[in-house]
Amino acid sequence: MSGHGDAQPMKSARGGPLRGVAEVPGDKSISHRALIFGAMAVGETRISGLLEGQDVLDTAKAMRAFGANVTRHGDGVWTVNGVGVGGFSEPADVLDVGNSGTGARLIMGTMATTPITATFTGDASLRKRPMGRVTDPLHLFGARAYGRQGGRLPMTIVGAAHPVPVRYALPVASAQVKSAVLLAGLNAPGETVVIEREPTRDHSERMLLGFGARLVVEKTAEGHVITLTGQPDLRPQVVAVPRDPSSAAFPVCAALIVDGSDITVPGVSQNLTRNGLYLTLVEMGAEIEFLHPREEGGEPVADLRVRFSGSMQGIEVPPERAPSMIDEYPILSVVAAFATGRTVMRGVKELRVKESDRIDAMARGLEACGVRVEEDADTLIVHGMGPGGVPGGATCATHLDHRIAMSFLCLGMAAQRPVTVDDASPILTSFPIFEGLMTGLGADLQRLAV
Ligand code: S3P
Repeated sequence: MSGHGDAQPMKSARGGPLRGVAEVPGDKSISHRALIFGAMAVGETRISGLLEGQDVLDTAKAMRAFGANVTRHGDGVWTVNGVGVGGFSEPADVLDVGNSGTGARLIMGTMATTPITATFTGDASLRKRPMGRVTDPLHLFGARAYGRQGGRLPMTIVGAAHPVPVRYALPVASAQVKSAVLLAGLNAPGETVVIEREPTRDHSERMLLGFGARLVVEKTAEGHVITLTGQPDLRPQVVAVPRDPSSAAFPVCAALIVDGSDITVPGVSQNLTRNGLYLTLVEMGAEIEFLHPREEGGEPVADLRVRFSGSMQGIEVPPERAPSMIDEYPILSVVAAFATGRTVMRGVKELRVKESDRIDAMARGLEACGVRVEEDADTLIVHGMGPGGVPGGATCATHLDHRIAMSFLCLGMAAQRPVTVDDASPILTSFPIFEGLMTGLGADLQRLAV
């Protein structure tokens, strides 16, 4: 499979139960940030457990283009010799950040307060995604952005020569936008303030503190008020990247719907800004035990023992939970198809601007597999067909979206007839060992000739 190459269709069929231990790779959000913060510290940051998915590799390449020395030493073991806050040099060529919205938006923030110019592009999926949500606050710092209509890539950012600090209330619940503003604030004098009404993943805040920045988070009536003092000397760190709870979601959910399954997924983050899916599954009646709670890589984690759960009920997912499970709605809607009753997912319009329009992609694929769905701009409702009740037998379009591809492959593991995805290659962006890990548990996945 190739992340940037030809489409790779893949078929998933119902086989025996899933059994064994699923060791999922490092967290994508934390991996991007480890490379970026490492590049902004002076000295050597040592990283273990880095996700070597294409998205993160593209961020590593971009950090090299800005002058950092980024070296791979072995599986997931990397060092970054950073150039310091404000030390980025101008890239000699266009930066291709592939499929990654996180890479694009965080890196734009990082360079926007340095007097250099950089041009960003990406694949067909990323070139459709809105960047205005990031360039709006970057303008306030004094940066300029020149993109295609609708604030789309390719886009050139001219960094501010004399940046000013910013006070910015996030108009959307987005950790990418929050992080872009904080990263830009690093090279602005004085205090940059970001206000978020609903808490989103807090990895940037945790890492900024770890790298020695001054950052204060206050909980007020307005929401979280995050104040960052600009122009710190960031100190290099040793970063142990914990496993990705968004990747863990796929073997966990597959085990819940494949009859007779019993798997263990070690080291799954219980960070409250990331664990919404797991709360939701438990409310639906999923049999999940949270064993050995502890800390790994600065994150609270537990080992999850997951068994086939034949009596899950559909629920109303609280909309305020959306930021803590935003990437997990596609796989939740697969579990919902095997539950009894309706699962109602409201407040999810952000899904329309992910790697694909995920409400549309899931609705069309589920319908093709014989599942009744309802949708509107901000809502997805799945009518469950009970354990083993999903007909399947369709080919689902993945629209260059890794999570859509993995979701329908998981659905095929429990459906009555095999399910094909038109292109499994985007899975390499976030979960390069998905195929081997799932077949190792007993799944029946087959690559098809193009
Ligand atoms: C991410 C934030 C989320 C998420 C993405 C990773 C991050 O995006 O969907 O996969 O690492 O900050 P938004 O900030 O746009 O919600």
